[in-house]
Amino acid sequence: MRRPLVAGNWKMHGTRASVDELVQGLLKLEVVPGVDVAVLPVALHIERVISAIESVQVLVGAQNCSVEAQQGAFTGEISAAQLADSQCRMVLVGHSERRQLFQEDDHVISRKFYAAQSYGLTPVLCVGETLEQREAGKTLEVIADQLGNVIRELGIGAFAQAVIAYEPVWAIGTGLTATPEQAQAVHAAIRDQLSSEDGQIGSSIRLLYGGSVKAANAAELFEMPDIDGALVGGASLNADEFGAIIRAAGRK
Ligand code: PGA
Repeated sequence: MRRPLVAGNWKMHGTRASVDELVQGLLKLEVVPGVDVAVLPVALHIERVISAIESVQVLVGAQNCSVEAQQGAFTGEISAAQLADSQCRMVLVGHSERRQLFQEDDHVISRKFYAAQSYGLTPVLCVGETLEQREAGKTLEVIADQLGNVIRELGIGAFAQAVIAYEPVWAIGTGLTATPEQAQAVHAAIRDQLSSEDGQIGSSIRLLYGGSVKAANAAELFEMPDIDGALVGGASLNADEFGAIIRAAGRK
């Protein structure tokens, strides 16, 4: 059985004070057995969050890492080695905001995925289509390409220790959510693609849905057989809302 994962992507939000307040809210949430929970603050706040929630079972991850895994003259970058040294456990790669706003292509994303794994961080590979691509009937093709390019560069074996998040670009931060059926269709296609290369990896990998997930729509998404949790943006900035999503995952 796949253990559900609910991960909160805090994006470039938070001050020390607001992060402390959010963490206090998270500490008050009941622990939901059988669900993994992660939060992904800005890199600057990672250590602060880790030291505050050390006692509870919440994983802390990063939103990005350098293509360079170790250390060196790469001004402004943060490496997977440094994230691992800070006790960080996972890292997002290929988020659509990075693809669109920072021109990250599949090659760069593969390098980041590889760098993360080299230091024991779990990469959470994000894939998703734009509205234009969906309307042109290209959704499955776009996702298969994004995923296929990473598989080609790194090999299917790299997915034995990874998570994939399907995030339709048109649903991120817009309040529009894919219907459970739309999301399930893409998740099933992702699982089939992986299974055709390696059945064990295809059946065991966790596939998260992301894009305006909130307490009000989480349960119906989690009812879908191939949705193993969520990558939550806006709603993860509110501890009560995030807690309700975690509880919905616990009913899966
Ligand atoms: P959202 O963001 O929940 O605010 O739509 C999701 C994400 O970008 O990971």
